[in-house]
Amino acid sequence: MCGIIGYIGERPACEVIVKGLKRLEYRGYDSAGIVTGDEEALHIRKGAGRIDELVERLKLLELPGKRGIGHTRWATHGVPNDINAHPHTDCSGKVALVHNGIIENYAEIREELLAKGHRFKSDTDTEVIAHLIEEELKSSESFEEAMRKALLKLKGSFALGIIYAEEPDRLYFVRNESPLVLGIGDGENFAASDVPAFLEYTNRVIFLDDGEYAVVGKDFYVIKKLATGEVVEKPVDESGWTLEMAEKSGYPHFMLKEIHEQPRAIRDAIHGNIDAVKKAAGEIARYEKIFVVAMGTSYHAGLVGKYIFQRLAKRIPIVEEASEFRYEFEDLIDEDTLVIAITQSGETADTLAAMKLAKKKGAKVLAIVNVVGSMATRIADLTLYTHAGPEIGVAATKTYTTQLTVLTMLAIELARVLGTTSEERLKELEEGLREVPELVEEVLRHDAALRELAENLVNKRDFFYIGRGISVPTAMEGALKLKEISYIHAEGLSAGELKHGPLALLEEGVPVVAVAPSGKTLDKLIGNIEEAKARGALTIALGSSEALKRVADTLIEMPPVDELLSPMPYIVPLQLLAYHLAVLRGNDPDKPRNLAKSVTVE
Ligand code: G6P
Repeated sequence: MCGIIGYIGERPACEVIVKGLKRLEYRGYDSAGIVTGDEEALHIRKGAGRIDELVERLKLLELPGKRGIGHTRWATHGVPNDINAHPHTDCSGKVALVHNGIIENYAEIREELLAKGHRFKSDTDTEVIAHLIEEELKSSESFEEAMRKALLKLKGSFALGIIYAEEPDRLYFVRNESPLVLGIGDGENFAASDVPAFLEYTNRVIFLDDGEYAVVGKDFYVIKKLATGEVVEKPVDESGWTLEMAEKSGYPHFMLKEIHEQPRAIRDAIHGNIDAVKKAAGEIARYEKIFVVAMGTSYHAGLVGKYIFQRLAKRIPIVEEASEFRYEFEDLIDEDTLVIAITQSGETADTLAAMKLAKKKGAKVLAIVNVVGSMATRIADLTLYTHAGPEIGVAATKTYTTQLTVLTMLAIELARVLGTTSEERLKELEEGLREVPELVEEVLRHDAALRELAENLVNKRDFFYIGRGISVPTAMEGALKLKEISYIHAEGLSAGELKHGPLALLEEGVPVVAVAPSGKTLDKLIGNIEEAKARGALTIALGSSEALKRVADTLIEMPPVDELLSPMPYIVPLQLLAYHLAVLRGNDPDKPRNLAKSVTVE
């Protein structure tokens, strides 16, 4: 789980690479490194730590050369330290490379290479690739041939950037099950794990497919198949992302910016999907057996989707964490199964594996994805995009509410095809959905009040989030946001469960946050809030009902909204509360400890 950037042109490569690495830090940030090349040699500097710190400590901006590659790492093999940081080199120091992914057969390759006299410096799986290329060079006519022969021996996932000291006019980039996109400039070219890394210089992109590599010079690029060396013609796309979208736009953190972008993101998700959901609904209408697979926040979106699907389309999807689905449901998947995979990144290893399994069993696979061109979109039979734009904060915010938008639209359209809900009700929901961005804007005005609330809660050690029906996943997602970035223990659960155990944990002053939109179970939920209060809990309610004012210690007033649409505005105060608590506790909400944005390992 790492980020790669490469540059070749007329600028000082180190400058382009450092900027790119900062934009890729969300992919991993325990160590980083750069290799540049000039006519003379390769120059490598790398170490454990954040990019800003390494720029100072290792004087990264003093590296000479107009071509180079950089890497930001999230350790999978070998602890994060200076030696294990990328780039890695062969024995001669002429081949250097950076890698995102995992080489599954590295141990056996390493044994063979050790027997042939290669000396290894690191504990990484990556280093074997450099030595393997060095070994193949002995019997190859060109570096490219050696590289191809070496890479064909690898099992696993890899996106690679490769530089060879003796070829000062080019770099190599390879993709196999890890993302890699080329940026096409004028007299300069780029490659990276993700578009924002080079968006400042060009928005003309080419997405490599699995099993392809690119030979890239400042005035040329050639894309070839790894298996055969055959040239592949690929179109140049224009990325719709602007640099401003990929930067903080004046907010102190990406997460806060992304929370505030939600009205825009939801609007884009609606506009971008009007035709797409019609088409998708037609294609999935015949499936009665439906699984929804996802992880983390995307899983919570799936849980909300379940309520909407069953209420409108009268279909009851089984929502499973992708990591569980793979092992528990294999025998139940067949040609009559629909699997809906929800994934922001389109890269989560467990979700991809679940999708692949579903495909193998003949199921129809629909993906709801944010990152265009990501792996999930390549596996799926059809894809709906969330159109949220790049999400840099590790904790998902705008991608969650846009996933909910797409799921709602899909359920409405499916109900229309199936005739399971009256047209009048569907129209009412469509109108309501179009108003959700305004409701979110209204909720965002509570920001200062939520910060004040956070100040009073900053020393609390446990939080409980409760809800009923469609608000249970909102409670779970609120708790997840708090855990992820503030490091405060939190549980999200159905209010009905409170009495069956968790109530024993309530003591004087423990915050209980109730997600309480108006709907058929509000009275019951109010009863649960009272029970918690009677045990000394500090009760905080989100809702629009007058009755809540009497029971809750603090009420966050929400605009009235259809219960089925409530998960979108109702998560927003919980995102803000978590954000402020994280900041007040001195944490960086964009880069929570031990977590990464895309979990590309199982
Ligand atoms: C990681 C991220 C979460 C995300 C989850 C699933 O845990 O930190 O924010 O919800 O992965 O990611 P996906 O890209 O598949 O939605």
